[in-house]
Amino acid sequence: MCGIVGYIGGQNAAPILIEGLTRLEYRGYDSAGISVLGGKGAQVHRIVGRVRNLTAALPKRLAGKVGIGHTRWATHGPATEANAHPHVSEDGRISVVHNGIIDNADALREQLTQAGVTLSSETDTEVLAHLIARSGAKTLEDAVVEAVSRVTGTYAIAVTDTEHPDRVVVARNGSPLIIGVGDREMFVASDLSALVRHTSQVVHLDDGEFASVSATGYRTFTVDESDTGKAATAIDIQADDLDLGGHQHYMYKEIQEQPECLERMIRGRLDDRFGVSRLDGLNLTPRDLRGFARVKILGCGSAYYAGQIGATMIEDLARVPADAEAASEFRYRNPIIEADTLYIAVSQSGETADTAFAVEEVKRKGGRVVGLVNVVGSTIARACDGGLYLHAGPEIAVASTKALTNMAVGFAMIALALGRVRDLSNADGQRIVAALRALPKQVAAIVEAESQIAEHAKICADARSLFFIGRVRGFPVAREGAQKFKEISYRHAEAYQTSELKHGPLALIDEELPTVAIVPSDDLADRNLAAMQQIKARKGQVLAITHDDVDFGDLDVPRFVVPRSEPELDPILLTIPLQLLAYHAALILGHDIDKPRNLAKSVTVE
Ligand code: F6R
Repeated sequence: MCGIVGYIGGQNAAPILIEGLTRLEYRGYDSAGISVLGGKGAQVHRIVGRVRNLTAALPKRLAGKVGIGHTRWATHGPATEANAHPHVSEDGRISVVHNGIIDNADALREQLTQAGVTLSSETDTEVLAHLIARSGAKTLEDAVVEAVSRVTGTYAIAVTDTEHPDRVVVARNGSPLIIGVGDREMFVASDLSALVRHTSQVVHLDDGEFASVSATGYRTFTVDESDTGKAATAIDIQADDLDLGGHQHYMYKEIQEQPECLERMIRGRLDDRFGVSRLDGLNLTPRDLRGFARVKILGCGSAYYAGQIGATMIEDLARVPADAEAASEFRYRNPIIEADTLYIAVSQSGETADTAFAVEEVKRKGGRVVGLVNVVGSTIARACDGGLYLHAGPEIAVASTKALTNMAVGFAMIALALGRVRDLSNADGQRIVAALRALPKQVAAIVEAESQIAEHAKICADARSLFFIGRVRGFPVAREGAQKFKEISYRHAEAYQTSELKHGPLALIDEELPTVAIVPSDDLADRNLAAMQQIKARKGQVLAITHDDVDFGDLDVPRFVVPRSEPELDPILLTIPLQLLAYHAALILGHDIDKPRNLAKSVTVE
């Protein structure tokens, strides 16, 4: 949710912190701040609003070669300057930035108040600054260990101390934290995107791990001070992947990138001759694959809808019962974990707290869980027993597009692997492999026909409320379409099974409520057409996302035609125009497309 950055080395810290915060802004953009250790102790600057406001508010000369920064997404206390990070101890010595939630903050605030501390914010984080400052420990490392031992909850923190200006001490529990190793300079961040311009060598901290970071090295250790000796690993993200590349919005760039992302997703993973997928990363033998009686997919938001698309593919191709569940609910309902169920956690960021906790719950109860994750080395990727990386490249726009498409393809490949050790024939396997190989070009064709979908966006943007409808394979597509639309247009968009319209929602249809209907060329097409007739009869406007061989007869509705894939894979292509529809509606409405209100890219708190 929030973003953390830190620097220690030979350069001026402030510009590096600001650049890092700008990269992290997609994780939270309520308020921002930095603390730089210079000649005058800790120089702390905080503002409400965007990082660009912080940049404008900084003094011209802000010297200091050590510093930490934060971009905030409010959880405890509204977005005010006082609540912005870094939080500072009363004597100005300790500065702290924090991601996560401290569950016992109220009790600690009370204890600190009774001990005579005047708290200056409403945040949970501030207690850490005071606890560290008031610790009697001799070293900053010991003080941080002592302080975090008193808190319960989740945290990634970075701490500086004017009395120990030669180090930044960090700790992680439940929120991501990475150290970037440079040449006589070191970086700290909650997200790779803040580091890639400076180094490709990174250290991923684990939960319960601390690190003391100086300009020339780092030491990782646990709460009992034993060294963990964490080594750095190389990352393969290029700094250019994080630029807009001449586009106006990241969301648009990410929609356009999908053909290449799909190529990367399938590369080396398909066998044309045997019509099968080769998914070594899953760490599952053919015998393991044969042994699963069920599949349960866990994810949140769009990842959950991708999971619904995937569950249908698995049932279709492998004839294994499969379903998707919102990880945010799963973890709270004491789920029954079965040894013969394959659990699949799906996440773009790999840091979504609800999904990470669901993985933990499965593992605690002895279940086998694999991941479909985009961010390499992320918490969920590391927690799973195996998995497939999505290779979609960095996704910066809050509204997920290319990662979702690659998730659906990942599920198709898992369905193929499960199917080919069961009843799926060689010929059917080859049919699916060929269809997967055709996807990049087909997606490119849809994206090229963008102007047609942009025409329809006006009607949708003007409406206060919209329906997205689909049946069976088309229903998760409708859900994802409504999700994308509401996220960035702020219009009420609701997905229904087309078959359910007559059981209630039809009452809402009139000339002011348009419907986007998913109408693939399948054996439900006639029923979908009948539903559209009913909508038209009630003066509702309809836009059909369809195939060219669906016979609309005398039903006169605007259509956007997508290329046909194999029926099992059609949902992948049907989803793409809905991304463009949402994008163009938000563009017409003049919204901040990449950073929609009230949303953050990765939800690392509950
Ligand atoms: C929708 C969106 C969110 C995420 C959800 C899960 O466009 O971005 O609904 O899909 O928060 O995030 P990840 O995939 O990072 O676990």
